[in-house]
Amino acid sequence: MDETWEGLRRAAIEVAQRAYAPYSGFPVGAAALVDDGRVVVGCNVENAGYGVTLCAECGLVSSLVAGGGGRLTRFVCVNGDDDVIMPCGRCRQLLWEHGGAELLVWTPTGVLTMDQVLPQAFGPEALER
Ligand code: THU
Repeated sequence: MDETWEGLRRAAIEVAQRAYAPYSGFPVGAAALVDDGRVVVGCNVENAGYGVTLCAECGLVSSLVAGGGGRLTRFVCVNGDDDVIMPCGRCRQLLWEHGGAELLVWTPTGVLTMDQVLPQAFGPEALER
């Protein structure tokens, strides 16, 4: 992996240490590169109402938009053992909205495009008529 990917992984590991995951005991950190060069991060934030839990990607996307928006170009998320993990199904949908088919995702089996990890996605163009 090149230095850009390694930097993103380090950022994800760092933010995972600030995750609030008292119920699952499964901290997650996520980091992404934006097309203007910014790096945005997020960690999971659980809740006593389990279903209210915010995945790490929710925080990341919120930070992206609050920081001025832009398109995600590279994404990685890790668990508390620093392993690269797959974003959950709901979060793949979140990532699709802000990165589209070309977003590169570091997965446990290597770097894939968003189109590969969420085939035939439902996206903004589906609402055009
Ligand atoms: N989690 C994430 O933050 N992102 C994912 O893509 C997978 C799951 C969190 C949610 C919950 O706090 C914990 O991992 C266990 O599911």
